[in-house]
Amino acid sequence: MPNRMAKPRQIYLDNAATTRVDANVAKVVSECMLETFGNPSSAHQAGIEAERRIKVATGQLARAIGDPDGSFGRIIWTSGGTESDAMGVLGAGRTKKKATKVVVSAIEHPAVKQSAAMLCELGWQRVELPVDGHGVATVEGVRKTVDTDTGVLAVMLVNNEISTIAPIAELAAVARAISPDIHVHCDAVQALGKIEVNVAELGADSVAFAAHKLHGPKGVGALWLKKGARIQPFWAGGGQQDGLRSGTDNVPGIAGMGAAAELASEDLASRKKRHKSYADRLVAACEEAGLRFLVNAADAPRAPHVLSLAFDACPAEPLLHVLESRGVLVSAGSACAEKSRKPSPVLTAIGVPKTHGTLRISFGRDTTDEDITFASEILTDAVRSFQS
Ligand SMILES: Cc1ncc(COP(=O)(O)O)c(C=O)c1O
Repeated sequence: MPNRMAKPRQIYLDNAATTRVDANVAKVVSECMLETFGNPSSAHQAGIEAERRIKVATGQLARAIGDPDGSFGRIIWTSGGTESDAMGVLGAGRTKKKATKVVVSAIEHPAVKQSAAMLCELGWQRVELPVDGHGVATVEGVRKTVDTDTGVLAVMLVNNEISTIAPIAELAAVARAISPDIHVHCDAVQALGKIEVNVAELGADSVAFAAHKLHGPKGVGALWLKKGARIQPFWAGGGQQDGLRSGTDNVPGIAGMGAAAELASEDLASRKKRHKSYADRLVAACEEAGLRFLVNAADAPRAPHVLSLAFDACPAEPLLHVLESRGVLVSAGSACAEKSRKPSPVLTAIGVPKTHGTLRISFGRDTTDEDITFASEILTDAVRSFQS
């Protein structure tokens, strides 16, 4: 007899917005809440145990980002990607005595753009670094926008809407040749666990990460800060993390992020392959169904966990809701742009026609072949109903 109470099938393909916490990571978080619950600043055994948890997590994250023994820089634990970006842009900018200009790529996350806007409140000028037609920041763009007054340059490693990968090392080298004291900040929130990240080779002074994008808990992130690079803390207090971020350390979150970072780098190569095959299958299904669509940033280097598709004559939001009603969860452009209902600056920057509605389909470590088979059918069917 059919189970009338069975939950309808739901396929979650919005992993660029957030991911389900991995069961092993949840176990680590839970242990830190229930057992290793001491304050790492306490001198007794419970505090020492909690401090050890942080050390382990710092080692796990450091290995995942290519600085295993911290010889190139240090990790500052934060409340997530937004705070890490704010530290890398506003916190770094505030240490500059002479600089008056912040250059920010046109496709940055609002966390970076708005931190640059806050520097403007201190009298700085914000200048946009343009991207090319494929959504990638270029050396020519850096040459045009960075000058000797530029104190901060922010360019993201992987874009959250179209997953384009920027040549950070090259851009940073050109920027430094023009403005030797510049602080280069890189938002790698969508990069960790999706492509190889090596802070030692990236060329940035600070790099932002967030746990919830890699099957870790929400509300925890990290900023990697290169040796010699400086940031001004946002608040004072007990002097934790060498005074760079006072406040009792979020031990469960930090331990969870460490475990998530270790997991993310373990099977990265095979996951990348799997995600690329999912994207290829979805594109092939749309082609076979004769749909009118574009793959956004098709010719750019991209991280494989995001597929951004623009469908002709398909308004994104109604399409999204049709998909949701049939059990497929994706996002329209990006989660942040979605609620504001404004055209996405990223899609505008790469010239996606206004007649097209864009869906961002993003995969996680738990996405399966069957999920893609199911999603392909629902997606092609839904788009066809709009286009016919
Ligand atoms: C590229 C990028 N940067 C920063 C953030 C902000 O991170 P958090 O949600 O952890 O504050 C996000 C999250 O959407 C992101 O995708």
